[in-house]
Amino acid sequence: QKFAIGIDIGGTKVSGGLVDESGRIVGRARRDTPERSKSPRIVEDTIVSVFNELMDGVAADKPGGDADEVAAVGIGAAGFVGADGATVVFAPHLSWRNEPLRRSLSDRIGRPIFVENDANAAAWAEWRYGAARGESHLVMITLGTGIGGGLIVDNRLQRGKWGIAAEYGHMQVVPDGQRCECGNRGCWEQYASGNALVREARSMILAGSPVVQDLAARVDHDPSQLTGPLITEAAKAGDPTARELLAEVGHWLGVGLANIAAALDPGRFVIGGGVSAAGDLLIAPARDTFRRKLTGRGYRPEAQVVAAALGNDAGLIGAADLARVQAAGGVAGD
Ligand code: BGC
Ligand code: NA
Ligand code: ZN
Repeated sequence: QKFAIGIDIGGTKVSGGLVDESGRIVGRARRDTPERSKSPRIVEDTIVSVFNELMDGVAADKPGGDADEVAAVGIGAAGFVGADGATVVFAPHLSWRNEPLRRSLSDRIGRPIFVENDANAAAWAEWRYGAARGESHLVMITLGTGIGGGLIVDNRLQRGKWGIAAEYGHMQVVPDGQRCECGNRGCWEQYASGNALVREARSMILAGSPVVQDLAARVDHDPSQLTGPLITEAAKAGDPTARELLAEVGHWLGVGLANIAAALDPGRFVIGGGVSAAGDLLIAPARDTFRRKLTGRGYRPEAQVVAAALGNDAGLIGAADLARVQAAGGVAGD
């Protein structure tokens, strides 16, 4: 079978793609993520509507490539996915709590479904098709609403005992720091994610700081309208405050990378997710802090810190590819 469908469910967007055997996206569908207060059923409806749109595309523009060519559906979910590949046990930014996602969707999708953590899926895609090809020891970081993590050791995706390994976003980097949606305080994702970037920018606007005029003007002085992409755009246009905000997030990113290197000794860090669109404005400061905080620096090889090659598509490509591999009876890493 030629295709698999990948659907990546993030904190703000649901993006789906029809993915061929070489990891290429040949069809797309997107929706906004329903608000967290909405019931899980609404998120399921969104997934099914993305799935149906993609299937219509297969039937319409691929003569000869009918619906039977879709082998499996992979769902990359922004949360803790159980080792069964079927259940979302907890999701800080979504309404799922012990949600039997595969079971709830299977009648409506009618194909093998594999649920995977969104960042694990992204790690897989970058390792197979992107910035970590050939790297046996990879740590993936996705910077979006939160921070997602993935881990590949000896060319195998690591899920931990219960499926919840590599939740780096919830490492505590600041004692008694900002409250996190997971319930704890001081989690890394409160300092190095898209949410952190926007929170800092908003608080500057609310404080009426003169250095934030350019950003404030972009949103008509309504801080609630501010988004990560707007800040990145302003930084790319040369706005010094937006650059400083990104550099600060980059600094915190570097702090976390140094901690992860101390624990896991990867060969490469791949930085993806929406915020990574800022490129070197984010990654250069991250590299800098990483090198200054790395334990044993000067006496050990240093992991590379690189931007994702598949950008924000890594999650959906990886979810599709993992679903295809697993539907064929393979193990992630073979
Ligand atoms: C969640 C992860 C998820 C990440 C990125 C974190 O808050 O705990 O499961 O991968 O956000 O979406
Ligand atoms: Na993960
Ligand atoms: Zn947390």
